[in-house]
Amino acid sequence: MEIHQPLSLLGGLSASLFMRRHWQKKPLLVRQAMPAMAPPIERAALFALAGQEGVESRLIRHGKSGWTLRHGPFARRALPSPGQPGWTLLVQGVDLHHQRAYELLQQFRFVPDARLDDLMISYASDEGGVGPHFDSYDVFLLQVQGRRRWSIGRQRDLRLQPDVPLKILAQFEPEQSFVLEPGDMLYLPPRYAHDGVAVGGDCMTCSIGLRSPAAAPLGADLLARIAEAQADALEEATRAAVHYRDPAQPALDAPAAMPPALQAFARDAVMAALREADAIDRALGESMTEPKASVWFEQGELPSEWNAVALDRRTRMLYDARHLYINGESFRASGRDAKLMRRLADERALGARDLKGASDDALALLGDWCEAGWLHAE
Ligand code: SIN
Ligand code: CO
Repeated sequence: MEIHQPLSLLGGLSASLFMRRHWQKKPLLVRQAMPAMAPPIERAALFALAGQEGVESRLIRHGKSGWTLRHGPFARRALPSPGQPGWTLLVQGVDLHHQRAYELLQQFRFVPDARLDDLMISYASDEGGVGPHFDSYDVFLLQVQGRRRWSIGRQRDLRLQPDVPLKILAQFEPEQSFVLEPGDMLYLPPRYAHDGVAVGGDCMTCSIGLRSPAAAPLGADLLARIAEAQADALEEATRAAVHYRDPAQPALDAPAAMPPALQAFARDAVMAALREADAIDRALGESMTEPKASVWFEQGELPSEWNAVALDRRTRMLYDARHLYINGESFRASGRDAKLMRRLADERALGARDLKGASDDALALLGDWCEAGWLHAE
């Protein structure tokens, strides 16, 4: 992506300026970010997707008795009629299932892939919305059909309404309000309060959702991965084990006291595991490319000829200076092969010319990924 070129997607800002001025800092309203916008998926197809196992969907209604939330999958007859006001259907991960939704998400790849989560589509009947709230992540809200009024505010009072199945602000104080038409887009940084309501009929909105790991669960996940990766190494090491020794241990009259030298020995053992070259980088790469629990790949075939390949929509692929990470696995890579694979990760495809120069090792790896359904030959 050309990051210095002005983009209508960002209201004439380049991706580079947008990141400097707005990203994680302040909202941006873009009129006609995507002119002549047509919804990436028809309403009927969205409703059908919400009926599928393995697709995360939610139905939110607001009526006299307050807010209600139900989780999918939803049979078509379980959804209210579009003519009935005040309901919203949210379908997560539409990019994994529909090519046009996937292509739409690709336009936001000036943000690191590691930070991009998914494309959620919300369908709201007239007056429908999910209530005033804030999210922990940045979001691009792209209006794709009908009109929605967004009220937004910095909101200091983050208290939530009690006894509601959703996160709804108790005292929302909007500062600005805009009606978005198809093609308009609103970017909001994390924790910026917002409330979107369908006006003048039903509407559809795409949320380009970001993700950012929280320190504590990320740390726990990485430690578990490091422990697993080291299980084999440990088994080997126990054969030539370095055991705790304490020739200077004096006699004790308080025998239950933990020897401080044993504590230091344990700390060293843990730190040695973490100092293992790249242990944390690898665990992070595997964690950030781990497919969601609902994602599975259909077995593919080894191509008879290498013309062009493209990553499957569901494949997550990242790299760093020494590794490639793909769908929760890591591979060491260097030299020409690494360059080729990084290109695959950035472009999500390789052409015949790229493949012509590929080494046997690289082709073997690409072949494995084709068979796993992570990559498709074209
Ligand atoms: C919606 O599109 O209805 C909800 C999206 C959001 O508020 O983050
Ligand atoms: Co939100």
